[in-house]
Amino acid sequence: MAIDSAVSDRFELVTVPRAKGVPSFAEEVAAGLSASPKRLPSKFHYDDVGSALFDAITRLPEYYLTRAETEILSEWGWQMVRLLDAPLDFLELGSGSAIKTRLLIGEALRVQDELRYSPIDISTEAICSSSLALVESFPGLHVRAYAGDYFDVLESQPMLSDRKMLAMLMGSNIGNYEPNEARLLFSLLGSALRPGDGLLIGTDLRKDRATLEMAYDDRIGVTSAFNRNVLARINRELDADFDLRKFRHVVHYDERRGSVDSFLEAQERMALQISGADLRITVEAGERIHTESSYKFADEDVARLAEGGGFRPQSVWQDRAKRFSVHLLVHR
Ligand code: AVI
Repeated sequence: MAIDSAVSDRFELVTVPRAKGVPSFAEEVAAGLSASPKRLPSKFHYDDVGSALFDAITRLPEYYLTRAETEILSEWGWQMVRLLDAPLDFLELGSGSAIKTRLLIGEALRVQDELRYSPIDISTEAICSSSLALVESFPGLHVRAYAGDYFDVLESQPMLSDRKMLAMLMGSNIGNYEPNEARLLFSLLGSALRPGDGLLIGTDLRKDRATLEMAYDDRIGVTSAFNRNVLARINRELDADFDLRKFRHVVHYDERRGSVDSFLEAQERMALQISGADLRITVEAGERIHTESSYKFADEDVARLAEGGGFRPQSVWQDRAKRFSVHLLVHR
């Protein structure tokens, strides 16, 4: 793709390698598939194919989360960017396709002439295409994009700025972390940001089982393809022989933990070889591999997390159907 220099001058990509001591894809796959019960970390869903499938999920009728959050940002984005003193810089964890961020960038550029935006995303393809599209749409926007894991980027890259920072963790992304990891992410954000900086966080609210389970098990099977793509990725990258047709996508809402859990359930007994991870395993008929937790939050749960990271809750907005919340937290 030919990039206009007026666009490329305002876009910079920083690729952040995995930190020392952090296990590789092969090592994490080997550890997860040797564990009992078997599990695969949900971050591995997002190779280029998985990111495109996730993008399709956000448009499904059952997956109300994106529409609910977009409704909140369309209605209240103007207020979100005005509650902290302008001019602001934006930092976004997990920008994905950045469609919703567009609304906030547009609002910020009404109150300031220039905006520096630093998105962090594990998918280089997703972050480059969304950043370039943003730079093209907004002449006052400068993007420094980080391709890498949130933890690695926040730990290794100083987010220095002379402006107030508004960090964003939207789209219920926090819900994919187990509670101990979510606390760790909040404390990393607490160290990366300074007093007075803001953190906008989009969280899905706890609700009835049927709505939640349908959101993660749509009728046309996009979420099933997204989930099974993790096995296709292991086949592609680690020379394995998973037969995707023999694994069923299963979801279950665990009300006690407040998590919609996704699994891949083996339809028969299989002996499998994952050459690139130096691993042979057997899966039994009916055995499940846990592939994702999607935690749902009451507003008090978010307040508790915020406190632990050194933030205080400032404001919260909900969509009209009260399915989703966006919280503004301020660093103490
Ligand atoms: C990215 N994340 C917040 C999504 C979620 O709702 O947990 C991922 C997803 N998995 C299946 N559908 C959507």
